[in-house]
Amino acid sequence: MRVAWRASLEMGPLAEEFNVGVVGAGYVGLVTGACLAYVGHRVTCVDKDEGRVAELKEGRMPIYEPGLEDLVVQNSRRGRLSFSTDIAGTVHEADVLFVAVDTPQGDDGSADLSSVAAVARSIGRALAERPGAGRAQRERPLVVVNKSTVPVGSGDYVSMLIQEGASESSSGNGAVDYRVVSSPEFLREGSAVYDSFFPNRIVLGADKRDALDTMRALYEPFIEQTFPTQVDPRPKVAVPFVTTDLASAEMIKYAANAFLATKISFINEIATICELVGADVSSVAHGIGLDDRIGSRFLSAGIGWGGSCFPKDVAALRSIAREYDHEPVLLDASVAVNERQRKRVVSKLQRDLHTLKGKRVALLGLAFKPNTDDLREAPSLEIARALDQRGARAVGYDPVAGKKAAGLLPNLRVVFDPYEALSGAHAAVVVTEWEEIRTLDLQRIAALMESPKLLVDGRNAYDPRAVRDSGLLYRGFGRE
Ligand code: NAD
Ligand code: UGA
Repeated sequence: MRVAWRASLEMGPLAEEFNVGVVGAGYVGLVTGACLAYVGHRVTCVDKDEGRVAELKEGRMPIYEPGLEDLVVQNSRRGRLSFSTDIAGTVHEADVLFVAVDTPQGDDGSADLSSVAAVARSIGRALAERPGAGRAQRERPLVVVNKSTVPVGSGDYVSMLIQEGASESSSGNGAVDYRVVSSPEFLREGSAVYDSFFPNRIVLGADKRDALDTMRALYEPFIEQTFPTQVDPRPKVAVPFVTTDLASAEMIKYAANAFLATKISFINEIATICELVGADVSSVAHGIGLDDRIGSRFLSAGIGWGGSCFPKDVAALRSIAREYDHEPVLLDASVAVNERQRKRVVSKLQRDLHTLKGKRVALLGLAFKPNTDDLREAPSLEIARALDQRGARAVGYDPVAGKKAAGLLPNLRVVFDPYEALSGAHAAVVVTEWEEIRTLDLQRIAALMESPKLLVDGRNAYDPRAVRDSGLLYRGFGRE
């Protein structure tokens, strides 16, 4: 039985209640803010995007994330969650301020810290201008929690920028009292709310004891799992609270993402070798995954990893290594394998369709993974571009990301029914393994498609025999 939270369940009083500000109301900030409000803290989510804040005030979600809307609406009604564009006002009120803004990949592969830097300066200015600033009027210093994924050393950089911001302030005397800690985020898109309530661990990097104590108290309901759950057949087990220095906490985040991405690239390398020697990668993954030193998760072979984080975080870690004249050969190889997987989709199409010019190809699923509308670094975009370059007519379908994809790819025809995408198609590619896409009616597909009725299963989502029995030509990854 799956453990679940229910937004309507009321939490008992908290041992210690905090005023929390969250800067950046995206996938991480909004989910973090909503979950902290649910357990009883008073939370304000701040974003510079006025449209986003207006939407949230009306209870409309700017992103698709299962369970989020309920949580936001219920906690806004309870008066524990509010939205604002006013960072200074939020800093004035907050005991703890999370920074959860974007850190995209810069042109040279390194992390672009401009959003983090802008926020840090604003925090400094606001702190200096806070009524009574300069006097030790606060019981405890403001704790600035970095949740954005940032290179090692960013904690110190943020501290420096807060000081700079404070000294730029025209009012106040520049003396500010704050702590900077790192609390990297490990949630996955598509299960972000679930992951926030039931994390494998909470990591905290801090160099001051008082900041650590504040964060321990703030996270208490998550560590001790004391919030109400709908169904909970398991005995409650405390979540490991890993405390370390700032640099190590920042490195834990990059190392975790790089390891997971490399694990996928590893199984994809094995998948290619499986095709050559006539083995089935699904059986191989099952066989190795039962070894608990390896573990069965993140061993699904296919098109490879995309999304808003693995690509940029692996690139940032490679860039950090190079800054110190270290060649990160394993990470380089992990990226090379991943790039090759996308190209293999095109070669699998060419193998059976030969020229792609004029051929109709249905792309089933466009988001970078199921249960999200996120298209950042989605394999679908690269595959659609490659098909376009070769003169193929691509038609895309996604249960939620269709409209967004149409905006990004003018040459991709996006339809809102999977069978419409498949009608008259010479080939179909399973790009994203949404439940709806894994369970399409194969007989119906076979009747709609044109010869050679090729299904390239980019996620090994289908049973090859069932596909072949319905009259389609099947090509998976590592399971020829
Ligand atoms: P996002 O792009 O969804 O959201 C970032 C938000 O910050 C946007 O709404 C933007 O308007 C806002 N913002 C930017 N600058 C601002 C400023 N100066 N003042 C106020 N608001 C500002 O990003 P995200 O996916 O939530 O990621 C945020 C960080 O968390 C990144 O560093 C990312 O690597 C990390 N992270 C993301 C995930 C994920 O699954 N998306 C998981 C773990 C960690
Ligand atoms: C990932 C991590 O799993 C999170 O722990 C982390 O917090 C997050 O990045 C981040 O830092 O933003 P996310 O990108 O949401 O989460 O999605 P994943 O489920 O990890 O999938 C990433 C990519 O790998 C997807 O394109 C997915 O299709 C692919 N994947 C995943 C595989 O190809 N095979 C697998 O076995 C698993």
